Amino acid sequence: MCGIIGYSGNLEAEQVLISGLEQLEYRGYDSAGIARMTRDAVEITKTTGNVSALKRKLEEKATLTSHCGIGHTRWATHGGVTEENAHPHRFGKITLIHNGIIENYKKIREDYGKGTRFCSQTDTEIAAMLMDTFYDGNPEEAIWKTTAKLEGSYAFCVLFEDIPNVVYCIRKVSPLVAAYAKEGAFVASDVTALIAYTQDYFVVPEDTILVLTDEKAELHNQKGNVVKPEMLHVKWDFASAQKNGYPHYMLKEIYEQPEALQRTIAPRMKENIPDFEDDQIPDSIFESIQQVKIVACGTAMHAGLIGKVLIEKRVRIPVGVEIASEFRYADPIIDQKTLVIVISQSGETIDTLASLRLAKELGAVTIGIVNVKGSTIARESDYVFYTHAGPEIAVASTKAYTVQIAALCLLTMRLALIKKTLGRGEITRDFALLKESIECVKHALLLEPEIQKMTACLTEASDLFFIGRGIDYALSCEGSIKLKEISYIHSEAYAAGELKHGTISLITEGVPVIAIATQESVFSKMVSNIREVKARGAKVILITKESMQVEESIFDYHFTIPEIADDYTPIPAAVILQLIAYHTSVRRGLNVDQPRNLAKSVTVE
Ligand code: M6R
Repeated sequence: MCGIIGYSGNLEAEQVLISGLEQLEYRGYDSAGIARMTRDAVEITKTTGNVSALKRKLEEKATLTSHCGIGHTRWATHGGVTEENAHPHRFGKITLIHNGIIENYKKIREDYGKGTRFCSQTDTEIAAMLMDTFYDGNPEEAIWKTTAKLEGSYAFCVLFEDIPNVVYCIRKVSPLVAAYAKEGAFVASDVTALIAYTQDYFVVPEDTILVLTDEKAELHNQKGNVVKPEMLHVKWDFASAQKNGYPHYMLKEIYEQPEALQRTIAPRMKENIPDFEDDQIPDSIFESIQQVKIVACGTAMHAGLIGKVLIEKRVRIPVGVEIASEFRYADPIIDQKTLVIVISQSGETIDTLASLRLAKELGAVTIGIVNVKGSTIARESDYVFYTHAGPEIAVASTKAYTVQIAALCLLTMRLALIKKTLGRGEITRDFALLKESIECVKHALLLEPEIQKMTACLTEASDLFFIGRGIDYALSCEGSIKLKEISYIHSEAYAAGELKHGTISLITEGVPVIAIATQESVFSKMVSNIREVKARGAKVILITKESMQVEESIFDYHFTIPEIADDYTPIPAAVILQLIAYHTSVRRGLNVDQPRNLAKSVTVE
């Protein structure tokens, strides 16, 4: 979860580390710190709070010239949010930062640190102590000896006090990418921190040590041999990872959806039929598939709920949508005839990754729908379907969600073609509808001023309900998570027909209910359910298609999306829900992009 950066080169280290941490802050923002190396010392500055707090603390200090250092922005796991627990941690000659969890830290403390007084409650300080124990002038040997003892996940960047201007790094599971540019050598948790210097980078392979000097970023294996990195190129640039005039990343990312959808859909179109030749996903893998499991977390899992409706309807094979943290421990029934689709924006979510590994072990065919190029899930999936949303910085996922739905639409169409459950004509029509959804998104964005006004009625709510049926219920789940994660208002998503079985007792005068009613086949049923909540005093915010006739008595606010086939309504309707969550959070004066307790990339269990 934490963000880490390391640098050795010709620029001022402080400047590189701080701007890197600003780019990585969405990974965790409980506390932040840097260590700068000079010829004869390692100077640490750290604080609770965000990177701005760290900057303020640095301003109070005397100027220090340094061209090498490491920086960390923390999402607390072991130990509370205190300055002592913030990284970097120093023990003896070792100063290090860490992203991950050392599961056996207590045993290591007993075995190697008995009687030692530690400054923090962290597992990281124990790792620093262990490395210092093993260090006798040979840094790589100390690292190998240390990691041989560690259980869990880690990405470490280490400074050895007596080896000036060199950063040593190693990782297991937790991500690290590196690059060399004219300004020097860089390492970071993800490429957003490097993009100001270069678009060419590599993923640090596990079981190698990365050595950064001002001349190179070099990989060494355990025998000490140099390993050639596999270079990757990221298409987006520094500007794409900035706010570009928007007050928040989230709003910018909401507005980027038409282009993101276009980039995800257009390259897969051949003769108006989705084609995955360029993705190197062969049709043969679909032929013997008898069931599909979609495994993911949070918003990505909600995209999976939409995928289930689409695939079952068009391909007529059973689809299960599984929460990754459950799936990995649930002894799932899957075999070679199962297609497991894992969905992850970051490609690093630990539970999704573990589920992918399990699915592969059990012999399933796996496809990763992933946004971040070269991420672990992308690399480990049998096949990868990249969404091209560009960098998503806000913790609340928006554009990643709609492109994940688009990816699932495309996979459904291809699967239906191979399974012959739809003809080419029907698929061509489906494809045209998917493209139309982009225009509908543009229309939904025009509703922002009205949505912004409406949210005045939500800011004081303590509970809120989203209701829908079928695909609208799947979308309700996403609307609810979006609202609660950034507005801190308690909300629940309910299948509208299920309300009467308990939840309707919570609907009292003035409780807001966001009713999504875009499905023609169940529209009259939805209207009845809306009447039921209205009769109990609910304040109803209704979302329908333009053509749907509704009596004014059943809603307080009404937002419409343009005419589009029922299965494609979630893409534009999602935009309305995102804007509702966004403006509610803004009105409540909250930190929209960095909501409390959350981090963008969940790399711990
Ligand atoms: O990177 P991933 O797509 O695997 O992340 C999964 C969830 O952690 C993520 O979607 C989370 O639920 C978002 N904060 C929701 O907006």
